[in-house]
Amino acid sequence: MYYFYKNEFVHKQDIQISPDDRGYYFGDGIYEVFRVYNGQIYEGAAHIQRLERTASEVRLQLPYSNEEIIDIINRLIQGNNLVEGTVYMQITRGEAPRAHPFPTQAEPIVLAYCTEVKRPLTTIQNGIQAITQPDIRWLRCDLKTLNLLPNVLAKQTALDHGVQEVILHREGTVTECSASNLMIIKDDVLYTHPANHLILHGITRAVVLRLAHALHIQVKEEPFTTNQLLQADEVFITGTTVEITSILRIDGQVIGTGTPGPTTQRLKAEFEKTFL
Ligand code: PDD
Repeated sequence: MYYFYKNEFVHKQDIQISPDDRGYYFGDGIYEVFRVYNGQIYEGAAHIQRLERTASEVRLQLPYSNEEIIDIINRLIQGNNLVEGTVYMQITRGEAPRAHPFPTQAEPIVLAYCTEVKRPLTTIQNGIQAITQPDIRWLRCDLKTLNLLPNVLAKQTALDHGVQEVILHREGTVTECSASNLMIIKDDVLYTHPANHLILHGITRAVVLRLAHALHIQVKEEPFTTNQLLQADEVFITGTTVEITSILRIDGQVIGTGTPGPTTQRLKAEFEKTFL
């Protein structure tokens, strides 16, 4: 496996990372996780658009054009013979002695590499369980930054409870999950939190909303409560790595029939038809 670091393709063991990288001191950086199916980048343009938006919102100058970024990713895919997996790319604000203000001299640093990852077929087919927790993150959850400590803590809490995901809420209003977006079906209507500053504007979230429109499923991008969540007919998460995965039990309570619901199954089938 070879990596991309500081403008060149190198072997992992040859990468030397400075302790002065602001990614370490401040989490001062941004990232994307791209999915690769059949050696091709899934929804590449949407990922690049989100990366550009995050970069601009945190005032980080991307060192490459969109075409150059896509080229780096494709060269990692081809150079590593990746057929099915992910490409991780992060860009930090650069290296400088620790001080809060933006450094005047530092150049942004790009790290990118790919990982072979199979589709999580067991959970996609059989569903998962989740718990609910207060959403303790900041008010710019739409930005894909390296500051993931609240997400890491939430995910670990799920694992400590023997379940796979945490559903986050702000004073009873459901936002999203620790590493995925959340959707519910009630009386044949799909509800999901609006794409504002409180959630990540997930690439697969947008894909699923597109598929729902194509399947004539009514969509309401509006907030809903944890009570509505527990009363839903179907609940599922969306994300680059989890695709569309049903949640069958929340805080120990069975959702709907306790099996992946019919609308979720239609969306999954349409997703597979479109992308695989
Ligand atoms: N996470 N919400 C959060 C908080 C996420 O971290 C992610 C993805 C999503 C889903 O977004 P998308 O459909 O674009 O993958 C929603 C990635 C995979 C990660 O941090 O590893």
